[in-house]
This record gives sequence, structure tokens and C-alpha cells, in this order.
Amino acid sequence: VTENIAMLPAKKSETIRTLESHVSIRSFNSTPVSEETLAMVLNAARRAPTSSNLQAYSVVVVRDPETRRRLSILAGNQRHVAEAPVFLAFCADISRIRLACQLHSKELAGDTLEMGLVAVIDAALVGMNVASAAESLGMGTVMIGGMRNHPLEVAATLALPEGAFVIFGMCIGWPERRPPQKPRLPEAAVIHYERYNSDGVEQALDEYDRQLESHFRGIDKPTDKASWTRRVATEFSRVRRGELRAAVRRLGFAFD
Ligand SMILES: Cc1cc2nc3c(=O)[nH]c(=O)nc-3n(C[C@H](O)[C@H](O)[C@H](O)COP(=O)(O)O)c2cc1C
Repeated sequence: VTENIAMLPAKKSETIRTLESHVSIRSFNSTPVSEETLAMVLNAARRAPTSSNLQAYSVVVVRDPETRRRLSILAGNQRHVAEAPVFLAFCADISRIRLACQLHSKELAGDTLEMGLVAVIDAALVGMNVASAAESLGMGTVMIGGMRNHPLEVAATLALPEGAFVIFGMCIGWPERRPPQKPRLPEAAVIHYERYNSDGVEQALDEYDRQLESHFRGIDKPTDKASWTRRVATEFSRVRRGELRAAVRRLGFAFD
């Protein structure tokens, strides 16, 4: 019987419908996000898997308008950071791990690439869980990598301890507008079966350039940035956030 069921195409779950309907939301209406709703989302998100059960992350919940205004400026004047009712800062955080070591008279061997990656991955997994949990309730989210523009100032604004830095932020609220979904790269470009296969990637990118151009035309956005390959080539042929390594080192992450 189980085998027969396994042969049937899987029926879509609510979770799959939520994931499929994701689109970043950058405009929010005035409905508040209640403490109860936020706590429910955060507590669900905290069930995320975590490397060696280290839970090497922290989340700072920011509702204070003045702090959000300051963070919006630090993020490169991103208005939605000031306008969303709730802003969350997701931190890679090894401060508790250092403390656990001290409690047992040991010193954390923490200045490694591995420890840094563990913390960044843990924080990212919780962040994605928060986004999905919030979106499953009909709320809107957008992640804010702009938090890495000025990591030291962001850390000071949020009073982070040594051993923590914000890997990205997130605006959460009830959507005012839900834009059309942005197309994703064709499956052939990103999913491989058994072995990586680069055949057809250029063709997939060409197809994606055309899809994105028509998406941007459809929403009356300038299409000069619409071609994915052209935008990537323009923006990523120069170093971005070149100061980041030195800044996160000062915050306790050597990534060596
Ligand atoms: C780690 C991360 C950082 C991001 N940073 C920003 C940001 O600073 N500002 C912003 O408006 N969107 C940001 N985004 C949202 C992306 O631009 C968006 O997810 C992407 O363009 C795809 O669009 P969609 O989410 O609507 O499908 C970020 C997304 C991720 C995953």
C-alpha cells in the first residue's frame, strides 16, 4: 500500500504553497504585528536545524521607530526598513559558545572559517524559517543585506556583544502591495541530478534574460537593469563591501 501511495504525485502541502508564493514585500500597511503573532513566528523559526546544536545565532527585534530610521540609513536609505512595523536583525553569534568554554575553563578555538560559517549558516536558517512562517500567515517580508554596508555602526546601534555581527536584517509587516513574482532561473540552470551538468546553462541564462526583461516591462520598471546577465556583469565585476572582512574581524570573526 505504501509503495502504491509513493507512486502517486505528491499533493501540495500548505507549506509548499507558502514557499511557492514567496515574493519580497517592501510596502506595509498600518496594521500592527502583535506580540503574540511575532512570538509564534519566532518560536517556530527557532526549531531550525543547527550545526552541532550550537544555535550560534541571535535575533534582535526592533520596533523602536528611531532605531529603525537609523538602520534604514545605514542600509543605504532603504525606506522599507523605517516603514515596516518590525525589523529583525539576524546575527551570527559565537558569544554564548565562548561563554560556555569559559565556564569550563577552556578557550574557544573560534577564529576559524569553520566557526564563522557555522554561525552564518545557523543565522540564515533561522532567518529563512522566520520568513516562511510569517508568509504562511499572510505577512510580508524582505531580507536586508544592506545591514552589511556598515557592520560596526549596526553592531553599535544594536549593542551587540563581541562575537556577533548582523548577517542580514528583515522587514516584517502586513503587505500593502503584493508585486508580481520575480521569475527564477530555469530549473536546468540550478538543479542537477546525480552529477553536475553544465550543458545548457548558457541557453538557460539566455532564456532567463528574456523572462526577466518581460517581467520588468510588465511592471513598468526600467529594463536597463532587467537582463540578469548584464546586471550581474555590471554590478559584480567590481568589489562590493571590500571593507567587510576587516569589520567582522573587529566584531570577533576572523574567518581564517
Ligand atoms: C540575504 C539577502 C539580502 C537581501 N538584501 C536586500 C536588501 O538589502 N534590500 C532589498 O530591498 N532586498 C533585499 N533582498 C531581497 C532580494 O532582492 C530578493 O529576494 C530577490 O531580488 C528576489 O526577489 P523576490 O524575493 O521578490 O522573489 C535580499 C535578499 C536576501 C536573500
